[in-house]
Amino acid sequence: MSLKEQIDKSKIPQHVAIIMDGNGRWAKQRQHDRTFGHESGVISVKETVETAAEIGIKYLTLYAFSSENWNRPKSEVDALMSLLVKTINQETKTLNDNNIRLKAIGDLQSLESQTFAELQKAIENTASNTQMTLILALSYSSRWEITKAIEQIAIKLKNKELQIEEINQDLVSSFLNTAPYPDPELLIRTSGEYRISNFLLWQIAYTELYFTPILWPDFRSENLYEAILDYQNRERRFGMTSEQLLNF
Ligand code: FPP
Repeated sequence: MSLKEQIDKSKIPQHVAIIMDGNGRWAKQRQHDRTFGHESGVISVKETVETAAEIGIKYLTLYAFSSENWNRPKSEVDALMSLLVKTINQETKTLNDNNIRLKAIGDLQSLESQTFAELQKAIENTASNTQMTLILALSYSSRWEITKAIEQIAIKLKNKELQIEEINQDLVSSFLNTAPYPDPELLIRTSGEYRISNFLLWQIAYTELYFTPILWPDFRSENLYEAILDYQNRERRFGMTSEQLLNF
């Protein structure tokens, strides 16, 4: 049986998040510059997005550019941004053909105006699609997101629009960029690094973590199937015992 056939269709994770890592190392192994690695990573992005939608994943979040990535050499930041604009432009039709809605999380105001405008255009052009939501994390970091949420809650407290007794976990979640989306059930990180790198720290409290040595430009549908099969073989207990789970 193929990996795809082994997947239990009734246990597909609703939301999968991916830290796409290893583009630079992949390029270096081939004596190319880092930009070549990012360009090759776009092929993996396309295949992963289409496969995820096809197998019934409802939300796919990709860590495309972290707040910390601004510290990379300007030439690499510029190359990543133009790759992003180019890909978003070229792929809007594919997103529509596959009934995929595009969304973004992160400090979008910090993007260059052309990048922001192209992103907004694609978000608007795909807004009515329903098969899957593709969420790009751009200029995103979890500590930035949580700090912003605290700031907004504090302002509401100060303006007496909110009472201290009303603060609970759901309220905090509602102030995060990810408020409209469920928490991911599965987080994948490529390239053999065992880190979360400031990604969705609040949202992954109960998420299953899957680390693969595959470098992102080599990541293909089969690797996504492997991750989902691994997830499906785990027991998610949410702090309960195995016995309690049977009656849950
Ligand atoms: C990490 O590899 C990857 C990134 C910082 C960028 C990811 C971007 C893409 C795959 C292309 C554009 C994306 C979209 C959604 C169109 P790295 O550079 O940190 O690799 P290294 O750890 O080997 O140096």
